[in-house]
Amino acid sequence: MLFFLVTAAAFATAGVAAAANGGFTPQYAHSPNADRINTAYYLILGFTGAIFVLVEAALVVFIWKYRSRGRPRSAEGVQVHGNTRLELIWTVIPVVILAVIGIFVFYELPGISNVPSASAGDRVNVTVEGHQFYWQFDYPNGARSIGDLHVPVGKVVYLTIVSPDVDHSWWVPQLGGKTDAIPGKVNHTWFTADRAGTYIGQCAEFCGTFHEAMRTRVIATSAAEYETYVGSTAQKDLGRSEFQGSCATCHGMKGEGGYGPSLSTNPLLVQPSGLAPIVRNGFGKMPPVGEGWSDAQIAALVRYAKAKIFKGAAASGG
Ligand code: CUA
Repeated sequence: MLFFLVTAAAFATAGVAAAANGGFTPQYAHSPNADRINTAYYLILGFTGAIFVLVEAALVVFIWKYRSRGRPRSAEGVQVHGNTRLELIWTVIPVVILAVIGIFVFYELPGISNVPSASAGDRVNVTVEGHQFYWQFDYPNGARSIGDLHVPVGKVVYLTIVSPDVDHSWWVPQLGGKTDAIPGKVNHTWFTADRAGTYIGQCAEFCGTFHEAMRTRVIATSAAEYETYVGSTAQKDLGRSEFQGSCATCHGMKGEGGYGPSLSTNPLLVQPSGLAPIVRNGFGKMPPVGEGWSDAQIAALVRYAKAKIFKGAAASGG
């Protein structure tokens, strides 16, 4: 009875999970490599699902058919000594299944890992830097953004993934598999977004206190909107994206404090000469979040802080 209840509960929750697409099924793919990963997933799910049903059904049948029926515990059953044909069958079938899965995965693999050939005009190269605790993006024209990666729809986006501090892992499920960002190593991956939209990603390698806050968004737009973004918007938006993408994780979206102290009344926030060394080198518990940030980036951060965060120095003596 317990077995039936457990099985019924498993199927009931599986139904809920599948309906919400939050359980056993991957997110809908919006890039060819993600699509191939999903296809491999469903092939393996098909085999393993069929095996599960077969084994559990046989178990139920055997439990029922060969129950004791009040026989004495000492009664001997029929003595069986091997069955060559059965043993061959249950060896050959798994070998065939594993071969089919292996062949299929090797057939799909080049389309997952190899970057499709594209002319220079149809390809965008972006350098992705994982930091404690944000993602930084460098575009071909020198523009930089933090937190949000802007890309044109339908073009091959080739990512060079690095990290100056600890291991992170780039992962936007709808646009492909995970790629690690490892200090001292350069990794690559790619995607081609098949429609305009916002795709959510999350760092997939435990990297410290705020690993869970290390999210990202890929914003796919028309080629014209993308050009406007990297041409001018990114520059105007840099200070905001720096503050909200990195500082706010610990200090709050309005600098009101959180894990880190409140910033909104700290005059250091609006002095480039005071702020730069703290941001670049870290201070106390604060990691060097802005390691490698240019003077222009520090200036952009100060401009944003002056306009949106700083409320004037706190009165001394309380
Ligand atoms: Cu970066 Cu986890």
